[in-house]
Amino acid sequence: MAGLVHVDFNLTNACNLACTHCHSASGKALPEELTTDEIIDVVHQLHAAGTLSIAFAGGEPFMRRDLLTILGEACRLDGWRVSVITNGLFFSDGVVARLADECPNLGINVSVDGATPDTFSELRTQPNATPAARAALFRRVTGGVSKAAAAGLRVSVNTTMTRATMHDLRATYRLAVEELGADALVAIKFFPAGFGRRHLERYDFPASVWSREFQALTRDKLAGALPRMQLSLPSAWEFYLPLIEGGFDLAEAERAWNNRSPLREPAYGRSRSIGDVAGVHELCVSGDGSVYPSILMVGEKDMLCGSLRHQSLEQLRQSAAPLRRLRELRLAEVGGGCSSCDLAGLCGGGSRSRALAEHGSVTASDDACPLTTPALTEAVR
Ligand SMILES: C[S@@+](CC[C@H](N)C(=O)[O-])C[C@H]1O[C@@H](n2cnc3c(N)ncnc32)[C@H](O)[C@@H]1O
Repeated sequence: MAGLVHVDFNLTNACNLACTHCHSASGKALPEELTTDEIIDVVHQLHAAGTLSIAFAGGEPFMRRDLLTILGEACRLDGWRVSVITNGLFFSDGVVARLADECPNLGINVSVDGATPDTFSELRTQPNATPAARAALFRRVTGGVSKAAAAGLRVSVNTTMTRATMHDLRATYRLAVEELGADALVAIKFFPAGFGRRHLERYDFPASVWSREFQALTRDKLAGALPRMQLSLPSAWEFYLPLIEGGFDLAEAERAWNNRSPLREPAYGRSRSIGDVAGVHELCVSGDGSVYPSILMVGEKDMLCGSLRHQSLEQLRQSAAPLRRLRELRLAEVGGGCSSCDLAGLCGGGSRSRALAEHGSVTASDDACPLTTPALTEAVR
């Protein structure tokens, strides 16, 4: 069975914010979330399975009172990267001191979706918040980042790239890296799920707009203007297609962004024709122990793989039908004409999560890609 490169562990669905783009549609805790002991057992199982990187998120992970115990336990285990993704509202002096003491190797990603209270509150708003409350929230979050960075913690800033807020990305980079002391800015492309699906017109990028934006970013990156900006994109065509359209040298852009399709790795390319690693090298565990192939598939009934409350990780990975389906999936089964696309060897079917979100099937086409031919979808299914 393939090795787990990355696992997202959503410790709770509870959240003290109500972000309009939230792909997890977080707010209330799930009815029966895992206990501390159950979580620590799952963490040990994931580590024993050889997972290379684990990210604790939610919901807001700091809503759990036992978070520092869980992080401390994960950080004590060797040979993997441990990170926590947070809204940054819980960095009291006591919490920062305990993190520095008990989790020195922890990566902390604080979400700052804009360089001003206005842009920030486009996504990270609370219902009925006044302008003064929004400004105070922005100050608290940015203050949390600088406090954690000043204490020597390894802090990065996450920021979601949406069509409505993209104009502020470079200013957010400067704020995060030059003013707040973050190690990096991780720019995450908007994914149409959860609450975010209510705002597709405002947040989602048509492919042509994305292509233009990403080419401009890549020009800045190659010119050395954004050395600490990293990328998180749902699929490989969102990286390669704008680069090809813009006449960029792909190898040079891959090096600059430190980003490369798994299909470009000879061993991977020999064993799989699908570029999306969901369910194969990636999993997501929900707060109640339910497992999904990817954080972007959480809540999709057909993709529920089982529960770590009732099964061991090994049993679940061996028996879960959605995981087997994704492991065995071949590009020829994917709709939209992907297998005859010129980008097949780079992309391999686009985002299986987006195909699932749009069409309810992991063999459907990723219609966000302008190269797909939707008419071919039905024929293949
Ligand atoms: C769902 S949040 C959970 C952790 C924490 N509560 C926080 O605010 O960072 C994890 C990360 O996903 C990002 N995110 C949320 N919805 C998204 C979407 N629709 N597309 C892309 N990224 C999204 C958030 O901005 C955040 O950086």
